[in-house]
Amino acid sequence: MRGRELVVVLDFGSQYSQLIARRVRECKVYCEIHPFDISVEALRRMRPKGVILSGGPANVYQEGAPICDKRVFELGVPILGICYGMQLMAYLLGGEVEPADKREYGPAQLIVDRPSPLFEGVPRESRVWMSHGDRIAVPPPGFEVVAHTANSPIAAMADEDRKFYGLQFHPEVKHTEFGSKIISNFLFKICGCSPTWDAASFVKRAIEEIRRRVGDERVLCAVSGGVDSTTLAALIHRAIGDRLICIFVDTGLLRLNEAEEVRRNFEKLGIKLHFVDASQRFLEKLKGVTDPEMKRKIIGEEFIAVFADEVKKFGRIRFLAQGTLYPDVIESVSVKGPSATIKTHHNVGGLPDVMPFELIEPFRELFKDEVRAVGRELGIPPEILGRHPFPGPGLAIRVIGEVTKERLDVLRQADAIFIEEIKRAGLYDEIWQAFAVLLPVKSVGVMGDERTYENVVALRAVTSTDGMTADWARIPYDVLARISNRIINEVKGVNRVVYDISSKPPSTIEWE
Ligand code: XMP
Repeated sequence: MRGRELVVVLDFGSQYSQLIARRVRECKVYCEIHPFDISVEALRRMRPKGVILSGGPANVYQEGAPICDKRVFELGVPILGICYGMQLMAYLLGGEVEPADKREYGPAQLIVDRPSPLFEGVPRESRVWMSHGDRIAVPPPGFEVVAHTANSPIAAMADEDRKFYGLQFHPEVKHTEFGSKIISNFLFKICGCSPTWDAASFVKRAIEEIRRRVGDERVLCAVSGGVDSTTLAALIHRAIGDRLICIFVDTGLLRLNEAEEVRRNFEKLGIKLHFVDASQRFLEKLKGVTDPEMKRKIIGEEFIAVFADEVKKFGRIRFLAQGTLYPDVIESVSVKGPSATIKTHHNVGGLPDVMPFELIEPFRELFKDEVRAVGRELGIPPEILGRHPFPGPGLAIRVIGEVTKERLDVLRQADAIFIEEIKRAGLYDEIWQAFAVLLPVKSVGVMGDERTYENVVALRAVTSTDGMTADWARIPYDVLARISNRIINEVKGVNRVVYDISSKPPSTIEWE
């Protein structure tokens, strides 16, 4: 991916580093996040048009504080320091940082005191978002104070000659009224970038890159039918055609008609799919197992085993394509760096650990919604791009207790009715995830004149932006009533439906 304009964010551990990158991308400028201690040589080789120093929880004088190489300031490119990034800039360039009298957290009124290209189009007074303990006492030589707030006499500083800028507040968060304007000023008026990064240019470059790397070899890809793997397959297929080998494993833990739908979708996209029905194998392995983590472990291992068996049929394949997304990359960067957020990923995984593939990960630089944009660009139908996330272990973690074919079938029918009604009510797209859960309890009911003693189905629907936090969806009562009625009438073996009204945290989205 050479020959494009790049802005680098150096990550000092801020929870907002991803957001900075995102705002830059929204301006159609390509952006990468790297750990703060990346070597200057590596940075120079990337030839960035600008560097942004993120915020972070440390203070510059504390022992072990993340400090970047001072030569970053000798790259000859504009630098924007945000919060800790600004303090570090002051510290390394000869200014003074001091603890503020009190921590400043939340909104503040910014007053711009002198003109600067960074604040072009930003009114003299505007609302900004603060979150810091320390502040600048004396700016480094060459810098001038550009703006202040009531609690931060130096809320923005600039050395217009060297094009170094520091902001005490966070322009990347939405609460900063003109934050996007400030970031776009930095990119366009200061770094001289042009807004050329979009899905079409991404696809064009990615295809060139894939062709260059793969030559006339073949690429293997495990597809689930979800947004990421379908888009990945479509992209690689466009690059190398039928030298892409897609394997789809039916684990028997999929939703009603799902395997068939995936097969049809790939047919429509013109991509050959090697379909493996391994449902018996998975069910065998899951017999008698009730512990959720045990289920995950078994399914993960079995998946690898099935995949390995299948791959043998194709002879030696050099490359494996994976739909790793940007947040995954950042998280692995942050594991090494100072960020505290580490999430376990349970995606159909571990393949590269046990098989000697070279990885192709064209989405390493994208966020989920950017993958959707790429998918649209590649002509993938909106129904696929808008699909709710579905966990790797599938319905096994939604049949609470032992997983059997019979219980899976009951769940599948209830789940299909739930989704159908949510779609009919026009609610599907505003819900992050909706699904049914089969509980391991039975309840008493009455149907006609008969007493029944049957299964309970729980409905779970949540709104969320990233799956990390979530709230239960306020589905209208009449829609819930219709769903409950239909499930109890149409699904044999269910006589009670309940709606889950827990948020995450403290609950999780899935029940297991
Ligand atoms: P929780 O239940 O942790 O789920 O709130 C957050 C998101 O992750 C999905 N999830 C999984 N995805 N393998 C996956 O591929 C798993 O084992 C797994 N567990 C949860 C869940 O569906 C939700 O989108």
